[in-house]
Amino acid sequence: MVALRASGIGKRFGAVIALDGVDLELRAGEVTAIMGENGAGKSTLLKILEGDYQPDSGQLSLGGRDVSFTDPSQSRAAGLRVIAQEPEIVPYVTVAENIYVGGISKQGFFFDQRGLEKRAAEDLARFGFDRVISPKTIGRELSPAQRQIVEIMRAIVDDPDVICFDEPTSSLGDDEVALLFTLIRQLRAEGKAIGYVSHRMNEIFQLADRITVLRDGKLVGSKLTTETDNNELVRMMVGRDLSQLYHRQPHETGAPVLELSKVDTDDVSGIDLMVRAGEIVGIAGLVGAGRSELMKAIVGDLPVRRGIVRVNGREVKFASPADSVAAGIGFAPEERKAEALVMQRTVRDNTVLAVLPRIAKAFFVSTATEKSLARRYIEQLRIRTPSTEQLVKNLSGGNQQKVVLARWLAHGPTLLVLDEPTRGVDVGAKSEIYGIVEDLAKQGVGILFVSSELPEVLGLADRIYVMAGGRIVGDMDREHASEEAILALAMLEVAAPDAA
Ligand SMILES: Nc1ncnc2c1ncn2[C@@H]1O[C@H](COP(=O)(O)OP(=O)(O)OP(=O)(O)O)[C@@H](O)[C@H]1O
Ligand SMILES: [Mg+2]
Repeated sequence: MVALRASGIGKRFGAVIALDGVDLELRAGEVTAIMGENGAGKSTLLKILEGDYQPDSGQLSLGGRDVSFTDPSQSRAAGLRVIAQEPEIVPYVTVAENIYVGGISKQGFFFDQRGLEKRAAEDLARFGFDRVISPKTIGRELSPAQRQIVEIMRAIVDDPDVICFDEPTSSLGDDEVALLFTLIRQLRAEGKAIGYVSHRMNEIFQLADRITVLRDGKLVGSKLTTETDNNELVRMMVGRDLSQLYHRQPHETGAPVLELSKVDTDDVSGIDLMVRAGEIVGIAGLVGAGRSELMKAIVGDLPVRRGIVRVNGREVKFASPADSVAAGIGFAPEERKAEALVMQRTVRDNTVLAVLPRIAKAFFVSTATEKSLARRYIEQLRIRTPSTEQLVKNLSGGNQQKVVLARWLAHGPTLLVLDEPTRGVDVGAKSEIYGIVEDLAKQGVGILFVSSELPEVLGLADRIYVMAGGRIVGDMDREHASEEAILALAMLEVAAPDAA
């Protein structure tokens, strides 16, 4: 019944105690959710299960036998797979090769590309992912959602007995989430033991049979899903009640800070859009609707082919993101690892990156100034790090996202563009981030954000644009917005090409 048991797991990183005597049981034919705030130790626990990290103390057993893995290849051979929070995709090979990387050598002497693609096509179809991904696509061309699917496929084609997912849906849209849930339920019905890390409460209640909560590296408790509720789980995770997620405050809107008129890029067309000073504008739509591409075009990271972009009333043509930073635009991209953070540098370096030109007016910036700035945001956003000098690559996923935000908050932009601002962020920090966005709007900053979480769009935005098929298919005020109204628009197929 118990397929995997971990008992008394301890792990330290220098002064940080990531795990302190944690127990976990994953049962065959059940989904066990693992929850906890950013930095609670969830990913570390999964890395220990698969043998990527070695525990300082504790014991693992798999199928009733004590095991210890010094490398993920050993846990794989023993029938355990962990799907990582940040997928590692080989950029220059196909989806098919990415799925079977590591297994290829077993195929024989020669490398049978067509055979591999055929096998990938069959496996993708078997799990229902053939609709959203092709075996021939090259790694670097994959969207974040597709990368996640490749990562999942890699794990399940081996037919393991125990499968752990580390925030698998944070880069998926509703469509792909539905596919994934069907898959997980299928795996559960086949008797697999499943561990599932997520910050999304609704997913936990849809999927999980049991819930295990960690806080500050310690086990808080385990519950049957039927015996607990939202409020109890939040209390277990954050150690206090969280009365409200959104802090609406009235904010006055002023003159337009961003105007797009008939803008075309390679991926989107005919975009008319406006953000006023002090206005929070949300963009909803399904994955692939062109939302991230539009954000990148606005900040000069993708070329604008036609149309006019105005910032503070002046027409602009950004050749690179540096131009948009100079014009007062801050951007927190969707793929923080690749695009936003310098992983090998410290929290301090990453926080002050965008402000340097400004605070360097007096010729040099003292380390003390940098540190105090970084410290302010560590406190405000509750970034869990031992100090300002910690390397960003050693922070948990959600805390990395907070560092990206800290940088732009420190920058004090006129327009802040946020692509999935709370992806992978825990409930407590979400509420902090919403509060900060509201504060910035109150101070007159224009905010443009993309989110795949409809409650977030509805809770935060003053006005909402809905995108589908590379176009804006509708817009609405918060008074007229609802999940149904947004979804109805988002799922519109843009049937007729431009009639002009
Ligand atoms: N390689 C490392 N070196 C130093 N500290 C680390 C390392 N890996 C993790 N940590 C620290 O261990 C703690 C637990 O991190 P972990 O990644 O397990 O959190 P998490 O629960 O997965 O959080 P999130 O929800 O943000 O993904 C954090 O304080 C993190 O900074
Ligand atoms: Mg994690």
